[in-house]
Amino acid sequence: MLIDNLLAALPDIEIKRNWPLAPLCTLHVGGNAEFFVSPSSIESMRKLFIRLLKEGCPVYVLGGGSNVLFPDGLVKGVVISTRNLKNIDWRTNLTADVDAGFLLSKLMKELRERNLAGLEFAAGIPGTIGGALIGNAGAGGRGICELADDVVAIEKDGTIKTWQNNEIDYGYRKCSLSDGKRIIVCARMTFRTIKPKDNEVLENYLLRRGSQPHGLHNAGCTFKNPEGNSAGKLLDECGCKNLSIGDAFVSDVHANFILNRGHASSSDVLELIKICAQRVYDSTGIKLEPEIKIMCPCECV
Ligand code: EPU
Repeated sequence: MLIDNLLAALPDIEIKRNWPLAPLCTLHVGGNAEFFVSPSSIESMRKLFIRLLKEGCPVYVLGGGSNVLFPDGLVKGVVISTRNLKNIDWRTNLTADVDAGFLLSKLMKELRERNLAGLEFAAGIPGTIGGALIGNAGAGGRGICELADDVVAIEKDGTIKTWQNNEIDYGYRKCSLSDGKRIIVCARMTFRTIKPKDNEVLENYLLRRGSQPHGLHNAGCTFKNPEGNSAGKLLDECGCKNLSIGDAFVSDVHANFILNRGHASSSDVLELIKICAQRVYDSTGIKLEPEIKIMCPCECV
């Protein structure tokens, strides 16, 4: 009721109730959001975010849903989606302000059309710019944060802050802005003019992506690579391929992918994650850390 009143005070935001989250997540699992909103302006998102936090309402922030796991059943509180923040504004020939909800795949396409390079390592990575920045998505030792000159976020105190690149601590699948205290809404990114070698690099990344499973719903790599090792290789060596719980199973193509055969639940996936991590720990002593984000209130993904 409290949330009803709050949302009613913000009439420019369309509210969905009991909204299914599974179709918004690439793994196609998870329950329904008690409330779901996708504001189309930073200002309405800001107003909503601070009011909800002030009232102690659970808030979840959802980007492209390509790396997340919501619980089954009713997800109490409000899921704020960034998918309607989807503009790109080219400031110069090389630099653009890219909204959080802009798709990484669309950005790759724009870069090709403009003969720009710099993001080849992100070829084939699904999701939005906001989500990619939060997890410093990337491959081959590269990550998207390195291309951001600055990142604009709605902070928990209601201010809008521009974080300069040198104020952000990032590393392998790590970004200091991901501590659940803000919503990333935009980033200024600078690219460079394409060189012949970039096409070769792009082909190589696409080739590696080609060796990953396709066709069934999944959320990309399940675990991060431990330092100096490969999670996929370790899981494979520990016999995890084809392990299954309900409709969730470990790919026989790449052991670091969990796929949904059709009607997997979030708890099936969680159980499978635990079993795989335990197997690797028992035989190698290595603790794998999930790359898939298990959603908690006010996690900005
Ligand atoms: N391997 C196996 N068995 C498997 C899977 C892999 O032996 O079941 C071996 C491969 O043969 C290879 C090594 O493990 O020798 C590494 O595998 P791969 O080349 O597939 O790369 P990866 O480290 O598993 C990383 C990223 C991917 C990214 C690829 C390609 C992580 C956790 N994964 O995978 O990112 O697409 O490089 O660039 O960093 C993601 O983050 O969601 C993701 C899929």
